[in-house]
Amino acid sequence: MYDTPFHAKDLSDYSFLITGGSGFIGSNLVEYLLKYKAKKVRVLDDLSNGHYKNLMPFKNNLSFEFIKDTIVDPNACLEACKGMDFIFHEAALGSVPRSLKTPLKTHEANATGFLNILDAARLSGIKRIVYASSSSVYGDDINMPKVENKIGNPLSPYAVSKFTNELYAKVFSMNYNMQIIGLRYFNVFGPNQSPEGAYAAVIPLFMDALLHDKSGYINGDGTQTRDFTFVENAVQANIKAIFAENPEALGKVYNVAVGETTSINDVFFELKRLTKSDAKPFYREERQGDIRDSLADISMAKDLLGYDPQIKIKQGLKTTLEWFKKNNKS
Ligand SMILES: NC(=O)c1ccc[n+]([C@@H]2O[C@H](COP(=O)([O-])OP(=O)(O)OC[C@H]3O[C@@H](n4cnc5c(N)ncnc54)[C@H](O)[C@@H]3O)[C@@H](O)[C@H]2O)c1
Repeated sequence: MYDTPFHAKDLSDYSFLITGGSGFIGSNLVEYLLKYKAKKVRVLDDLSNGHYKNLMPFKNNLSFEFIKDTIVDPNACLEACKGMDFIFHEAALGSVPRSLKTPLKTHEANATGFLNILDAARLSGIKRIVYASSSSVYGDDINMPKVENKIGNPLSPYAVSKFTNELYAKVFSMNYNMQIIGLRYFNVFGPNQSPEGAYAAVIPLFMDALLHDKSGYINGDGTQTRDFTFVENAVQANIKAIFAENPEALGKVYNVAVGETTSINDVFFELKRLTKSDAKPFYREERQGDIRDSLADISMAKDLLGYDPQIKIKQGLKTTLEWFKKNNKS
């Protein structure tokens, strides 16, 4: 992966902090930055939901550094910012159901943790922050495709926490003249996404089920749709955002997706075809707090960041499945 660079600058001039870097998207960013010889890549992660095994390939790289600590501690954030030029903020407790079960924990990591990172970045003179928001901020808005300037009411504590990030980012950009860009990810999938735990995402869960003859559960009737985004596209958006030179690009939040819609049933049956499995899906109750359909308008990211997602869902599923077969034996 990452055979084509998304940047023009020499990365050996820059140091990057990646919060949540042992998680799925964060570890893909680590891989990209080290592949292109960044001066320093520092991960700050408390390993609450990430896995150090995602960082094992880099542990002997002299440009790589891992700090096991929490963004809930403002001092840990300040320490982690020392000597850094840029921040990719990926740390958060994901999952709508988790946030409904433990809303305080979600708020602490996602809202307070984000504010700590913003303030540490302010005090440390960080050049630019690119942070992870989420398509969940569209909430009950029924318009399709989703356009950045029109959101509905949030449907879960997770969505509130991500919207809170966007509000704080705006206020910090305005008052402290900071360079901050938000990315509303739409259902990202790919290598390093874990099928483990109660809050795993649907694609790794399906892969795990189909490869190991377990039941593949579908919440609702499976006709609900998502704009599934291969992680390489999400990494591209991050890299383009951190180096975007158009001043108009700053202080905004962008949809990061492919702009194509796929139902959960279609994902299941495509994976069933690829794995040659006989498994049938098991349908169960819809999940509370979930949005029904999701499709992004990605024209703003294309226009202002030069984002151009290359990998469509079918190719992404194939690459992910190959990775999954090698890395998730059970
Ligand atoms: N994967 C998706 O489809 C998706 C969609 C929308 C938004 N997002 C957002 O993108 C970001 C990355 O998501 P991901 O899928 O890689 O999730 P992930 O759970 O794999 O990674 C998040 C990482 O943050 C770490 N973390 C959590 N709380 C922390 C804390 N208090 N201090 C330090 N580290 C902490 C976890 O240990 C984990 O390694 C998150 O902010 C998530 O909310 C992801």
